[in-house]
Amino acid sequence: MAEGASVVFKLYCLAVLTVMAASYTVLMRYTRTVEGVRYYSTTTVFVTECAKMFFTLCILLKEHKGSIRKVTQELKGNIVGKPMEMLKMSVPSIVYAIQNNMTFIGLSNLDAATYQVTYQMKIPCTALLSVMMLGRSLSSMQWIAVFVLTGGVILVQGIGGEAVSHTSGTEGSYVVGLTALTIAVFCSGFAGVYFEKLLKGSDTSLWVRNVQMYTWGMLSAFLGVVMHDWQNVRENGFLYGYTPLVWLVVLLGSGGGIYTSIVVKYTDNIMKGFAAAAAIVLSTVASIMFMGLVVGWMFVLGASLVIAAIFLYGLPKTNTEKLPARKSGT
Ligand code: C5P
Repeated sequence: MAEGASVVFKLYCLAVLTVMAASYTVLMRYTRTVEGVRYYSTTTVFVTECAKMFFTLCILLKEHKGSIRKVTQELKGNIVGKPMEMLKMSVPSIVYAIQNNMTFIGLSNLDAATYQVTYQMKIPCTALLSVMMLGRSLSSMQWIAVFVLTGGVILVQGIGGEAVSHTSGTEGSYVVGLTALTIAVFCSGFAGVYFEKLLKGSDTSLWVRNVQMYTWGMLSAFLGVVMHDWQNVRENGFLYGYTPLVWLVVLLGSGGGIYTSIVVKYTDNIMKGFAAAAAIVLSTVASIMFMGLVVGWMFVLGASLVIAAIFLYGLPKTNTEKLPARKSGT
């Protein structure tokens, strides 16, 4: 994949991520709330990590023109040969594994509106962490754009979500859901920015970084299965309750993860937030068109704010492929 990607390529990646993220959230929530056999979400997180590893290895193989020997050599050099680098990647990977499990808990315990509104806090959280951890600077206009975006998504989600919410659950599950989601917000911001720092702070390729990341991801996700669902898995099987729709959730989750990494490489985590916001607007529009969702002026206002924020931030103009030079070298 070419260094210095074109604006068209960046927009393409943002668009694919947008569509995947939108369908992922809708489907994940559907499979967790529909009547019938309930699959174990920790196994889904693990299977998704395995799928990401598989796709990444296929891409590496393609980059090396099908030579398994070259891929093995490159991976050996970067996994066995660089234990410190490998160890550093464990940080975002484990934090992502926690986040992925927390979003399932959040989606299983909260109504759609509360889930979406709370999860949007990751936009300012990520912006703040990008400034603190990467030394990135945002103009006042861009800060305004970040908050306009957050407000816009909250309006869109608050209203759209209210109309499609299924259950509000018990008070206990509400607290569990909200706590899980708050943890997910911080994990998302921290892991995203940390991954960006490691990726852009060295010459190691994106795909090698991803193999390092998913190695830890598979390990920590498996630990999640053992800690949370081991008894159930032993009784009913690992893939208990896996309908074709659950496999689709795995496919969208893994595709979304791979595209997230590409988007972070060629743009940055803040822009990823803008893509996710566009995803929410698009998914609500899709619900209006295909599921008969009725929205009012709040949705129109929120969607307008999201669009305005995208222009205020100056999305296509900003080049963030490299990290800004830091005073002290890290
Ligand atoms: O909600 P958020 O955008 O933070 O989620 C990012 C998702 O992308 C996580 O599910 C994470 O596992 C995934 N990811 C990935 N590979 C990367 C970076 C993130 O699969 N290199």
